[in-house]
Amino acid sequence: MKLILSDEKFKKIEADIEVCFVISKNFDSENVKEHKDVLEVLNFKGEDEEVLLLPEAKKLYVGCEKLEADTIRIAASTIIKKLKNTKFKSAKLSLVEDSIEYLNAIVDGLMLGSYTFDKYKSTKKDKLSQEVIIHTKEITKELKNALDESIEISKSVNMVRDIVNTPPDDFYPDIMASFAVDLAKECKIECKIYDDKYLEEKGMGAMLAVARASRHKPKLIHLTYSPKKCKKTVVLVGKGLTYDSGGLSLKPSDYMATMKSDKSGGSAVLGIMQAVAKLKLPIEVHGIIGAVENMIGGNAYKPDDVLKAKNGTTIEVRNTDAEGRLVLADCLCYAQDNIKDIDYILDFATLTGACVVALGEYTTGIMGHNSKLKHQIFDAANQSGELVGSLPFNRYLPKLLKSEIADICNISSSRYGGAITAGLFLDKFIYEENKDKWVHLDIAGPAYVEKPWGYNPHGASGAGVRLAVSFLKSLC
Ligand code: BES
Ligand code: ZN
Ligand code: ZN
Repeated sequence: MKLILSDEKFKKIEADIEVCFVISKNFDSENVKEHKDVLEVLNFKGEDEEVLLLPEAKKLYVGCEKLEADTIRIAASTIIKKLKNTKFKSAKLSLVEDSIEYLNAIVDGLMLGSYTFDKYKSTKKDKLSQEVIIHTKEITKELKNALDESIEISKSVNMVRDIVNTPPDDFYPDIMASFAVDLAKECKIECKIYDDKYLEEKGMGAMLAVARASRHKPKLIHLTYSPKKCKKTVVLVGKGLTYDSGGLSLKPSDYMATMKSDKSGGSAVLGIMQAVAKLKLPIEVHGIIGAVENMIGGNAYKPDDVLKAKNGTTIEVRNTDAEGRLVLADCLCYAQDNIKDIDYILDFATLTGACVVALGEYTTGIMGHNSKLKHQIFDAANQSGELVGSLPFNRYLPKLLKSEIADICNISSSRYGGAITAGLFLDKFIYEENKDKWVHLDIAGPAYVEKPWGYNPHGASGAGVRLAVSFLKSLC
C-alpha cells in the first residue's frame, strides 16, 4: 500500500474511490448529505466498523461515531479491509482536521488493519497494491514528517506481528538471535549475542534452568542504538519465550496452544529498536532479550529445585510455568550490571494469565514504584492508541513470595493478585538505585488476539511497540 499526502483541491484529486467519513452519525454534513436517502434505504447507521460501498457513485461511506483518534483508527482499518477485497487501485480521503494526531490515526488504521499473515497458506493473497491519497489543506513539514514516522512505526508493529505469528519450530532462540543480528545490520545498530557458556560464566542460573530441557540453547540478545547526541539512556528488556509448554508443570493443551506468543515481549523490543533507529531518536536505547524455550524432558528443571540468579538471589521453584520471571530476573541483572547511567528500565512480558483476568484482554498492566513515570507511560500509551492500566504494589503482597528454604519463591502462596506478585518477583532483581527508574509491562492480554478487535486481526498484535515509541518520543 502506498500512502500519499496531497494538498490539491479535494475534488481535483484523481482516485477510483472517494472515502466519506460519517462522523457522529451526522448525515447532513457536506460530504454525506448527497446520498443521505440511499444510505437510509440501505440501513447504513454510521456506527463504528460500519462501511458501505456505492460503486457507481464511487463512494465508500464509513462510520465514525466520535471525532477522536482511536475511533478514526478503527474507521481507517474498516476502510482498508473493505478496499482490499476490491479491484480499485486508489482511494482518496480527507483528513477530518489537519492534525498530526488524526493523520497518525489514519496511518495506523490503514497499515495495521490491512495486515495479514499468510506465510503458511498454500495460496497467498496478492500484496496490497492500492494507493491511498490523504488530503490536507496544507502539507507542512510537520505533517510530512508525521506521515513518515507513522509509517515506520506501523511497519515495526507489523514486523513484530510476523515474528510472533511464526510457529515455534521456525522461530526458536537461535533464529531470534540471527533475526536480531540482521535487524541490527539493516538499522546500523550494535548487536551482541551471548550463548549458554556466557550465561554459565556469569552465574545466570535462573535463565539457564528454564532453557535446560529444550534442544534449542538459550540466547541473550543485546541490541544497542547509540546516536551521537543522547538525551537519555533507556533500557528495554523483553521476555522471549519462543515457546512456553509450562515445563514439568505442563500446561493443559487448551492453554498451551498460542504459547508461541510468549515471545511477544522480546519481539516488541526488536520492533521498538527498529523504530527508534529509523526515527533517529536522540536517545541511547538498549534492547535486552532473553530468548529461551520452556520444555519438558529428563533434563528439565523441576518444582523443588533451587536456582541462583545473577545477583546471587536464590529462588525456590514451585511451578515451572512461572518461567518468564526467571528469565527476566537474569536479564534485568545483566542490564543493570552492564549498562551505565541508566535513566529508565522498561520490561515487556506476556507474564501472567492473572493480568488478563484483572484488566481484560485489551489492556497492558503496568507496575512499578514511580507514580510519575507510570503516568508518563499512561499518557504515552493513550497517545499511541494502546491501552494500559495500573496495578498497584503494596506492603502485604511481597510476603506471599516468601520461601522456607531460599530467598524467594517463584510463585505466590495466594491465588489472588498474581499479576502483581509476578511484578514484585521482578522487583527483587531491580537494584536499589534503579527502583524509581523501572516499570514492568505485562502484555499477556493484548499481545495475542484470538477474536479480532479494533484494527487487530487474529494473531499477534504487536503490543508494546507503539506505546514504547510514543514514550521514547516524549523524552526527546
Ligand atoms: N506465558 C504465561 C502467561 C500467559 C498466560 C501469557 C496467558 C499469555 C496468555 C506464563 O509463563 C505463565 O504460564 N504464567 C502462569 C504463572 C503461574 C504459574 C503463577 C500463569 O499465568 O498461569
Ligand atoms: Zn509459563
Ligand atoms: Zn510464559
